[in-house]
Amino acid sequence: MSTETTAATFEVRPTSHPRTQTEREQALADLSFGKVFTDHMARAVWTKGEGWHDHRVEAYGPLSLDPATAVLHYAQEIFEGLKAYRHADGSVWTFRPHANAARFAASARRLALPELREADFIGSIEALVRTDTEWVPDSPGSSLYLRPFMFASESFLGVRPAHRVDYLVIASPSGPYFTSGFSPVSIWVTTDFHRSGPGGTGAAKCGGNYAASLLPQQQATDNGCSQVCFLDAATGTLLEELGGMNVFFVDADGAVHTPELTETILAGVTRSSVLRIMADDGRTVYERPLPFAEIAEQIRSGHIVEAFACGTAAVVTPIGQFKGTGLDLTVGDGGPGAVTTGLHAKLTDVQYGRAEDTYGWMHRLA
Ligand code: COI
Repeated sequence: MSTETTAATFEVRPTSHPRTQTEREQALADLSFGKVFTDHMARAVWTKGEGWHDHRVEAYGPLSLDPATAVLHYAQEIFEGLKAYRHADGSVWTFRPHANAARFAASARRLALPELREADFIGSIEALVRTDTEWVPDSPGSSLYLRPFMFASESFLGVRPAHRVDYLVIASPSGPYFTSGFSPVSIWVTTDFHRSGPGGTGAAKCGGNYAASLLPQQQATDNGCSQVCFLDAATGTLLEELGGMNVFFVDADGAVHTPELTETILAGVTRSSVLRIMADDGRTVYERPLPFAEIAEQIRSGHIVEAFACGTAAVVTPIGQFKGTGLDLTVGDGGPGAVTTGLHAKLTDVQYGRAEDTYGWMHRLA
C-alpha cells in the first residue's frame, strides 16, 4: 500500500500530569455538556508545500497563538461533533464516523481549508479515545463528546487561505445537551435574523455560522426558549434549522416532514439516520420546503401532533412549543409524543449497544 492510502499514525506522547483516578471519578460523577475535558488531545499540522504532518496525541492543554493568527481575524475554521458510547460489556463505539469525516471534508472545501483524509479523521478519533478510554462515562445517557476542529494557524493578516492549518480533536465526557434531558423544549422562531443565505456557508459546519446564531439565540433565551429557529434568508418564509440542530414534524397520519437540504442547511448525521429509521418503520417521509405559516396552521389545527429537534449533541429532543413575535403555539399536548419517544429509544438503543446495529452504523473504538 502506498503512503497515500495508508492512515497516518498518531504517535502517542502521554501527558506528564494525568488526573488521578479519584479526580477522574469526581469529574465523571456529575456531567453536564462540554465543560470537562480528558487528559489528551489529538493533533496534526498542515503547511502549504508539506501537506499534513506531525500527527500525534499529546497532553490536553492551552494553545499558544500569535495575536496575528489568521483564525482570530477571519474565522477560517470548521468543526465536527460526534460521540463515543460505552456499551454494557465495557467496549467503546462511535456512530457513523465516516459521515462526519465526509462532512468535515465538505466543510473544509467551502472554507478553503485543506481536506483531512477520512482515514486520518477516523484514525485521530481512534487514537485519542484509545488513549483516554477511561474517560468514556457509563452513566445513563452520558457519552464522550468528540470535537474535531481545524483552523487557520498562520500568523498573517492578509485575507487569503492560510498557509498553515492546525487540526485537533478534544474530548469531553458529557451528559445531555439540554439540562432538562428528554423533555420538551421551547423554540423561538426569529424573524429578525437569518443563519445563512444563498451562496453562503450554511451547509458547512464552521464557527462563523454559530457566531451568527448567538445574538438570535440570546433573543430566544430572553424569551424563555432553549433554541432559536431560523427561516430562509431569501423569502423569510421557509423553516430551515435550529441554532445547532435539525427539526422534524409528525402529522396525525404518522407522516414525517423535515426541511429539504439546501445550500443553507447543515446536513445532520442524526437527521439522515432519523430519515432512514422513519422510512424503514413504514412512515411516509417528506423532505420538502416547509413554509412556517403552513406548519403553524397545522399545529393550530391539530394536524401536526409532534415536533422534535435532532443532532449529535441534542440526540432527539421533543419540542413542546414554538414562540415568536405574536406567536405562541403548543405542539399536540405539549408533551413528548409517542413517535418522538420511540425514535429516541430506537436510536439510542443502537448507539448504546442495547439493540442490534442492523445498519452497520457503529464503529468500534476500544
Ligand atoms: C452537535 O450536535 O454536535 C453540534 O455540533 C451542535 C452544537 C453543540 C454546536
